[in-house]
Amino acid sequence: ATSTFVPAVVVGSGYGASVSALRLGAAGVRTLMLEMGQLWNTPAADGNVFCTMVNPDQRAMWFKTMTEAPLDTLLWLPVINKQINSYAGVLDRVDFPNMKVYVGRGVGGGSLVNGGMAVTPTKDSFPDILPGVDVDEMYTTYYPLANRMLGVNSVDPNWWNTTDCYQFARVGRDDAAKAGFSTAFVPNVYDFDYMEQEALGQVPKSALNCEVIYGNNHGKRSLDKSYVPAALGTGNVTLKTLTKVTGIGRNADGTYAVNTSTVDTNGNTTSSQTVNCKYLFLGAGVLGTMNLLLQARETGTLPALSQQFGQNWGPNGNIMTARANWKPTGSVQSGMPTLGIDARNQAVPVFAEIAPMPANFELFISLYLAITKSPERGSFSYDPTSGQARLNWGPSQKDFAENAAKTLFDKVNAANGTIYRYDLFSGNRAFGDDFCYHPLGGAVLGSATDMYGRVPGYPGLYVNDASLIPGWTGVNPFVTITALAERNMARVIPTDNITN
Ligand code: FDA
Repeated sequence: ATSTFVPAVVVGSGYGASVSALRLGAAGVRTLMLEMGQLWNTPAADGNVFCTMVNPDQRAMWFKTMTEAPLDTLLWLPVINKQINSYAGVLDRVDFPNMKVYVGRGVGGGSLVNGGMAVTPTKDSFPDILPGVDVDEMYTTYYPLANRMLGVNSVDPNWWNTTDCYQFARVGRDDAAKAGFSTAFVPNVYDFDYMEQEALGQVPKSALNCEVIYGNNHGKRSLDKSYVPAALGTGNVTLKTLTKVTGIGRNADGTYAVNTSTVDTNGNTTSSQTVNCKYLFLGAGVLGTMNLLLQARETGTLPALSQQFGQNWGPNGNIMTARANWKPTGSVQSGMPTLGIDARNQAVPVFAEIAPMPANFELFISLYLAITKSPERGSFSYDPTSGQARLNWGPSQKDFAENAAKTLFDKVNAANGTIYRYDLFSGNRAFGDDFCYHPLGGAVLGSATDMYGRVPGYPGLYVNDASLIPGWTGVNPFVTITALAERNMARVIPTDNITN
């Protein structure tokens, strides 16, 4: 293995990591970004970078032989998931007992596979999301900055009201209203002007071609089109892909040693290198950051890490459910959600995204991803056999969130004469309660780290991703992850005198 030095290393290239890299680069700090997934910019033989959801291939999943879409079956039939070749694909699902966590792999992290919903939480809810963080500063400076940098835009309500591709959302709105629930439009990073052109048949289709969880070939402003090129454009940031950080430690001179392993798209190791740095920013997402920190603490390469690392994890109260509608929800459905049932003012707040189920034919299904204010928290412990952090989440820890979602959707069903679908989630269940899209926590701000993501006892070591947030954001999390990352960088770069 070779060894090299760079002033700053950023692990990962998702929201927290790409903000970190841009702000370091803009401050003149030479920075290396390390991402275990691919840079998704090269069309395959079919002319597309990504595959679709209805016709998935090896590009869909991170080294799996079967796709792992969140809905297992349709009419109890295994028609959704397909056999594929093992390859460095874009979506990963990491399975723990009672909880499966979906993550994106590639330059841009979760932004490559997510629904693009760009939601700023209400100011009133913020003190419960990130206790101790200056609310006014977030809402006057960092939320607006994050929205601007991410390219957030809103659907034209007139178009939305008439287009076939949001019939599912209009039905969802009307059904909610019958039960006395209001809905709220949510902004997105998908370019709605482009989507309108898709509907007119003027441009290649992406959101209207069943593309979302395996990547969007067009229209979506994922991080590889926003923060990452801005970071590279500073001239101080370099990016190394298909390169996984396998371990971190500290050298005698106080610099950090970052061990890396580079693979080809078939998973064969092509090289290994140790990168030494003065400043190390962990932005590998909750699972990646937990792996590195718990391994370092338990194997003794960073022995002074506190026991707080690994605590206070939550799935943002995620619960998926579906109703059997008798009204048509539309055979063409945009992959990008635009509306949520807004029950955030209830005793147990719920914000339920009205999700598409794009299939190119009429399914009469109303699908939802509910975000509930569940107080349940899990923790990570280190598994020496695999060298990975293992999530501890008990079989009944889903109950609170499931009950909150059930209370809401029982009312929606009663008001509309509809029932739950039991054929979509394995085990004949109405609720998809054993997986999440929104992992949050594990390196919580103000308990594991200081109030800006600094790791106590290790000057120059920072956490800057979703692991800082203690388990719940009330709405979809990436705008909050981005805004918090901006706030932290604005503080630590000048205060800690971060330079080459
Ligand atoms: P993120 O997970 O984005 O990035 C981490 C990166 O680090 C990944 O690219 C990973 O490959 C890399 N990495 C990990 N370990 C590494 C290592 N050891 N070495 C090198 N690289 C490593 N949110 C929202 O607000 N609106 C939405 O609509 C949705 N929808 C949605 C759908 C689906 C299917 C998913 C999976 C997720 C969402 N989300 C979402 C959630 C959102 O995408 C998520 O919260 C953020 O991506 C988390 O951002 P982070 O910066 O923490 O890491």
